[in-house]
Amino acid sequence: MNSENISPVLSDFQAPSRRETERLFRFRTPTDLDGQSVHRLIARCPPLDVNSLYANLLQCLHFSGTSILAETGDGQLAAFISGYVIPENPDTLFIWQVAVDPVHRGKGVALSMLEALLDRTLSMGVRYLETTISPENGPSRKLFQKLFSRRKAPFSRRPLFGRETHFGGGHDDEVLYRGGPFSAVGP
Ligand SMILES: CC(C)(COP(=O)(O)OP(=O)(O)OC[C@H]1O[C@@H](n2cnc3c(N)ncnc32)[C@H](O)[C@@H]1OP(=O)(O)O)[C@@H](O)C(=O)NCCC(=O)NCCS
Repeated sequence: MNSENISPVLSDFQAPSRRETERLFRFRTPTDLDGQSVHRLIARCPPLDVNSLYANLLQCLHFSGTSILAETGDGQLAAFISGYVIPENPDTLFIWQVAVDPVHRGKGVALSMLEALLDRTLSMGVRYLETTISPENGPSRKLFQKLFSRRKAPFSRRPLFGRETHFGGGHDDEVLYRGGPFSAVGP
């Protein structure tokens, strides 16, 4: 597969203040008791694949240290990010899904959560972040490019899963984005 190296984008931008977002939402690690509300949230967030409730329960239980959720002041689930450290690459955090409830989008929630999760996992030895993005998902691509830019991390991308090869025609291509190394706590 071809790999495309991309220089870091260091241009100035108006990023949402992470502190401001964390005032409006409480960030925490998920527990198994969040599994059902996570499952319902994912269903409200196309084009995400809806996994089984059991899969979401396992994400909240076994991958809680590498996942994060945001809830509103009254305890409603606003957003969830599932991730795990790749067993063969313990310095790499793989972001599985990012889901922000439609009513809470555009407030910097996803970006702030990604940064909080990255900072948490840096202490576990994580230095790189990977995710896959389908070419049609512009918001997701911009979100991760913004994260890499904000953290001054170079990134590369290459095809990972193909529509025909891996999905039998039933799913868009998935392109692997890999950014890092990350070392410093963000702004
Ligand atoms: C993609 C998604 C997670 C973004 O969540 P969000 O909290 O609204 O994102 P943020 O407010 O943190 O945005 C951060 C940056 O991402 C980019 N971005 C986010 N949503 C965007 C959109 N709809 N269009 C263009 N850029 C977007 C922007 O660069 C933005 O920074 P800016 O507002 O300063 O320009 C959310 O729209 C979502 O849950 N979508 C459905 C599920 C999905 O596609 N998940 C991603 C794949 S795993």
